[in-house]
Amino acid sequence: MWPYPKVLAHRGGGVLAPENTLAAMKCGAAHGFTAVEFDVMLSKDGVPVLMHDPEFGRTITGRGQVADTLAADLQKMDAGAWFNSGYKGEPVPLYSDVVCFCRQHGIWMNVEIKPAPGFEEETGHIVAARSSELFADIGVSDVRHLPLFSSFSFVALMAAKRAAPTIPRGLLMDEITPDWKAKLQEVGAVSLHTNHKYLSPLLAKNVKDAGYGLFCYTVNDAERAAEILRWGVDGFCTDRIDLIPAGF
Ligand code: G3P
Ligand code: MG
Repeated sequence: MWPYPKVLAHRGGGVLAPENTLAAMKCGAAHGFTAVEFDVMLSKDGVPVLMHDPEFGRTITGRGQVADTLAADLQKMDAGAWFNSGYKGEPVPLYSDVVCFCRQHGIWMNVEIKPAPGFEEETGHIVAARSSELFADIGVSDVRHLPLFSSFSFVALMAAKRAAPTIPRGLLMDEITPDWKAKLQEVGAVSLHTNHKYLSPLLAKNVKDAGYGLFCYTVNDAERAAEILRWGVDGFCTDRIDLIPAGF
């Protein structure tokens, strides 16, 4: 089951823009992408923002933790300067603002729930509850216009399931473990999201034969993308939106 676009721009704009920013979403859209993956974490005051790392230092300068910082303060931080000076001043965006942009531009969203350590339950709950509000006008069967949650955190996905049972979920597993099917069943997932490096044709077949969507991250080589698609993979995200077109 994969009613979604096949190729997603990873973290918004892949290698062409600072990850998890509105500028990245605009970049992905400008390259013709109609689907994105991005990471969502909670601020100190429980506001979902786009962020990959729980600590500062890589994409925002300085020292500190996202979970110790108010959303209003995160929004003042520069999430673009690390990438290049042309993006200096690009703020950390609120999840709600990115949803608004994507919906306005017809971009489908794979929302990766990325809890800071210790905040798994809370992050899953709040991201799902906020999403219920942001997508309240979308019918439950209109999955192409609802986001797809994914997370490496089983706890976060279970919390999302309780808070917003009708928003679809996918389980992220870096390497597919033998208990994958039981986990997908328990969390009510529609798809398995895995690292393409550890996928085999047999594993792909097993997942597809069980009736699940199969998604891979992060595929930056066109030949490899073609290979996993032959194995039955339904969709993948890429950093190389310059090399792998949306219509691949
Ligand atoms: O959701 C797929 C992929 O984004 C998972 O890894 O670390 O890039 O968020 P990461
Ligand atoms: Mg991610």
